[in-house]
Amino acid sequence: MSIVIAVDGTAASGKGTLAKKLAEHFGFAHLDSGSLYRLVALNVAHADDEADAARAAQSLSAATIEAAQRDDARIRSAEIGCAASVVAVYPCVREALLQFQRDFAARPPGGAEGAVIDGRDIGTVICPNATAKLFVDAAPEMRAHRRWLELKGRGETADEAKLLAEIVERDRRDRERPLSPLEPAPDALLLDTTHLDIDAAFAAALALVQPKVEEALKAPPQG
Ligand code: DC
Repeated sequence: MSIVIAVDGTAASGKGTLAKKLAEHFGFAHLDSGSLYRLVALNVAHADDEADAARAAQSLSAATIEAAQRDDARIRSAEIGCAASVVAVYPCVREALLQFQRDFAARPPGGAEGAVIDGRDIGTVICPNATAKLFVDAAPEMRAHRRWLELKGRGETADEAKLLAEIVERDRRDRERPLSPLEPAPDALLLDTTHLDIDAAFAAALALVQPKVEEALKAPPQG
């Protein structure tokens, strides 16, 4: 079993950036599991068409997923984020994406000793035995403001109140779905980044997970 750091949390909480930085720090592979649901959303005409979403999830190839991890601006929009949260409710979609995530955790690509996976259900459902689990959150107003600043930095215009409404709605849908809802695992370490900039948030995340990762790195290999 490889070392796994599960980074779950709310929409736009900064969990993806933290996961990427943790992966770089430890030399682990990184999987942004949200991109899988975003790819499904991108490949359906209507997010409320469950059968079409199931087909899109079943036909996702590893190559498409890898390309999206590298960079795919088409899946990064707020609209696709909302549609991803709609298709993520369907059990057949979650089922179709489960094995890819578990395989990534068990055999991280590139021969890496570990994997950092960010999402909503990594510590609860995908990898309940993860080495370390973080649950990242921040006040919704702060998350909307950061997203607004990010879009502004890219030369895009956005309405901050609309971004806030979308974030709140997405969290509600993710929390209230019956299967694999967004919730901290009982053994997750909580990180509130409301008052932390990215460097301070990373320092806090590292302080929380490092002892567990170091312990696992020292342990003799099993099997
Ligand atoms: O992390 P993100 O914003 O890219 O995720 C987009 C949506 O995908 C999110 O609102 C819900 C869904 N998702 C999920 O249900 N489970 C995951 N592990 C990751 C994302």
